[in-house]
Amino acid sequence: MSETSPSRPGHPGPGADPGSTGPGESAERGVPGRRAALVTGAASGIGRAVAERLEREGMDVLAVDLRPDPAGPGVAHEADLTDPDANAGAVAAALERFGRLDVVVPNAGVQHVSPVDEFPLERWDAILALLLRSPFLLAKHSWEALRQSDRARFIVIASVHGLVASPFKAAYVSAKHGVLGLVKTLALEGAAHGITATAVCPAYVRTPLVEKQIGDQARAHGLPPERVLEDVILAPHAIKELIEPAEVAGVVAFLASPAGRAFTGAPVTMDYGWTAR
Ligand SMILES: NC(=O)c1ccc[n+]([C@@H]2O[C@H](COP(=O)([O-])OP(=O)(O)OC[C@H]3O[C@@H](n4cnc5c(N)ncnc54)[C@H](O)[C@@H]3O)[C@@H](O)[C@H]2O)c1
Repeated sequence: MSETSPSRPGHPGPGADPGSTGPGESAERGVPGRRAALVTGAASGIGRAVAERLEREGMDVLAVDLRPDPAGPGVAHEADLTDPDANAGAVAAALERFGRLDVVVPNAGVQHVSPVDEFPLERWDAILALLLRSPFLLAKHSWEALRQSDRARFIVIASVHGLVASPFKAAYVSAKHGVLGLVKTLALEGAAHGITATAVCPAYVRTPLVEKQIGDQARAHGLPPERVLEDVILAPHAIKELIEPAEVAGVVAFLASPAGRAFTGAPVTMDYGWTAR
């Protein structure tokens, strides 16, 4: 539980890595003293940037994704995190592979833009399963390993939509508000064990998740697609720019460092002034 104590026992891995996409491991992986991270949604956008950055910081990274990229950063692990067993499996795979877990970054996400009266129940259920239940399950299954880390970090990529709402995003906004409640609870439970829990809350980031919603936003707002960026996406930003994935990864790296220790139970908002209004 000490942030300064260098000693920590290894953690025996409970199972195999069914989703690993193959060898590709370096001799460095799993070496004693090297910190290990699990990042979800690591094949694209923010998760990919986080996996790259944590690797650069010297960590072993299990890069979990529905469609993992064997050429991407980290050890690729395939998992559909809307399936509860796949969350347990991802944690087991990290422990099997690295023998420890110090940093968990629940990041995988999807969006659905639709007025509430047309919002499909199955999209609501899938979004809640991925954005809220998966972080809970990752915490549940990694908790014991995190307790054994001398610097344990649970860093959820939430959203400014965990703090404020936008129309036509009922499931996403509800799940992101919910995950902030989870982070606060984990911060209180983790305090005695040296585990911090933090929610990173970015405004719009330049990723496929944003690009994919342009058409739906145009339909929902009754706008031509070419107006969506300016009239919808950038409208709440005081600074009319998109955040870059590497900027979010930089915040995660800071939170994972010793300097991030006090940022527990809190949203870390990076929103170009959105919530200043
Ligand atoms: N892009 C933004 O503007 C923005 C802003 C704030 C917060 N976020 C949050 O950041 C996170 C990452 O978003 P992004 O913009 O990088 O998206 P992205 O679409 O670029 O990447 C999401 C990744 O999640 C994976 N994924 C989707 N469903 C999955 C499942 N069932 N199981 C496992 N993996 C799955 C995808 O394959 C993809 O690689 C999300 O939680 C999102 O809500 C994004």
